[in-house]
Amino acid sequence: MTEGKLKVALTRRWPESVERRMADAFELRINEGNRAMNDEAIGEALAWADVLCPTVTDSIGQELLAAPTVKTKLLANFGVGFNHIDLQAASRVGIAVSNTPGVLTDATAEIALTLMLSIARRTGEGERLVRSEQWDGWHPTHMLSTQVTGKTLGILGMGRIGLAFAKQAHYGLGMNILYSSRSEKSAQVLQGMPARYCPQEELFEVSDFVSLHCPATPETRHLVNAATLSKMKSTAFLINTARGDVVNESELVAALQQGVIAGAGLDVYEAEPRLVPGLRELPNVVLLPHMGSGTIQTRAAMGECALANILAFVENRPLPNQVN
Ligand code: DGY
Repeated sequence: MTEGKLKVALTRRWPESVERRMADAFELRINEGNRAMNDEAIGEALAWADVLCPTVTDSIGQELLAAPTVKTKLLANFGVGFNHIDLQAASRVGIAVSNTPGVLTDATAEIALTLMLSIARRTGEGERLVRSEQWDGWHPTHMLSTQVTGKTLGILGMGRIGLAFAKQAHYGLGMNILYSSRSEKSAQVLQGMPARYCPQEELFEVSDFVSLHCPATPETRHLVNAATLSKMKSTAFLINTARGDVVNESELVAALQQGVIAGAGLDVYEAEPRLVPGLRELPNVVLLPHMGSGTIQTRAAMGECALANILAFVENRPLPNQVN
């Protein structure tokens, strides 16, 4: 490691309060342009920094990590998801990887809730109508939509965020909760909330809303596809605040065009920030720009969490959130 101050590189701008704390503690380099860095720029950062702090928009694979110039010993990711980092390649060359779990749970669950309400109650369409001056006033059959209260929500991936969303939906909207996950959760993990563990197939078949909360892994890639969508009710909605890769987006567009399901609320996409052809034109989707964790409070907390991992690394303590 560098003599003197630790060299830390941020691939994006961070909330100012955390940048200031980092600049006080370390020799800090920030990608001032604040645009996604290309491989060459990431390679340079890996050759300079003891600690590199990537985000979801930086793809850090085997080739970059195995380069002989790499000096970095810790990738302190700003975010909970780390599917953009090749963990095995990092481990092979002795690079630790940490993430920022816990602090973005409520914020992300709020966006899942927002998407569920928006798509069912057609608020995006309604807002566009008012803004375009096409609204001709109230009438009894105008903009009829789907009531959410009391319906069944299927949570795919009952981790922290899935559970937080399920609680908002159950206690706030009286929804029945089903979930599929790697394992059945104890009443203690579920914090007493009634929720029924069921096979994935049943979850797709009976839910009025299916919400994705699983990580992006080779096993979950395109888990939502033409076949799984065809099992859903034609009145049901899909919500995705997890990762774009979990959904085969082209097959989702086809399903929405053909009325296989009623609609979708998406915060994440397969090739962000690009959308697959046809998605933008659909009336029965609500599309958000990957903003699940995007509250002022949460983004600062994510920065603080990444900083805590770096400080543990400097002081040779176990990292609070090491993932490899
Ligand atoms: C996360 O933390 O994984 C968010 O999606 C932003 O990367």
